[in-house]
Amino acid sequence: MSSHDCAGDCPIARRVFLKDVSLFTAALVAAGLAPRGAMAAASPIRALSREATEVRYPIPPKDGVQFDDKNEVILVRNAGKVYAFALSCPHQSTALKLDPAGTGGFYCTKHESRYRPTGEFISGRATRNMDRLVIRRDGNNAVVDVDKWYESDSEPAQWAAAVITL
Ligand code: FES
Repeated sequence: MSSHDCAGDCPIARRVFLKDVSLFTAALVAAGLAPRGAMAAASPIRALSREATEVRYPIPPKDGVQFDDKNEVILVRNAGKVYAFALSCPHQSTALKLDPAGTGGFYCTKHESRYRPTGEFISGRATRNMDRLVIRRDGNNAVVDVDKWYESDSEPAQWAAAVITL
């Protein structure tokens, strides 16, 4: 399990990041370059509570992507599974964005890495999948430990198991 150390290239300020995502996506939709679904699929989420390093979210009612800027978490529901990802790109910690191509996955502007909604690496300069935060189900909530995550290259089994199956 890894601990987060924001030495060197730290993520950009999350408020700036969220503003950029929403403005960029809105511009694409307005220009007819992105499906409306791409706009509806990403939204901010506020944690229900936080106790020490554990943050609690309602399990999303449908597939989509939610960004928690305060806790630097990306929460994804996709095909009957829920994942929590670290916001930072695993290459050099740039904040990830929703893929403007409308894939439902993620995109890193620094070196143009792309990832699937499940966090799997597709292309670009990164060398591993997005880092998955430790997640567990508690009733209708997803509980995420924002200080513990798995890296797919060094902890592949734990990375694969870091999911809630609905
Ligand atoms: S920082 Fe994301 S690909 Fe390099």
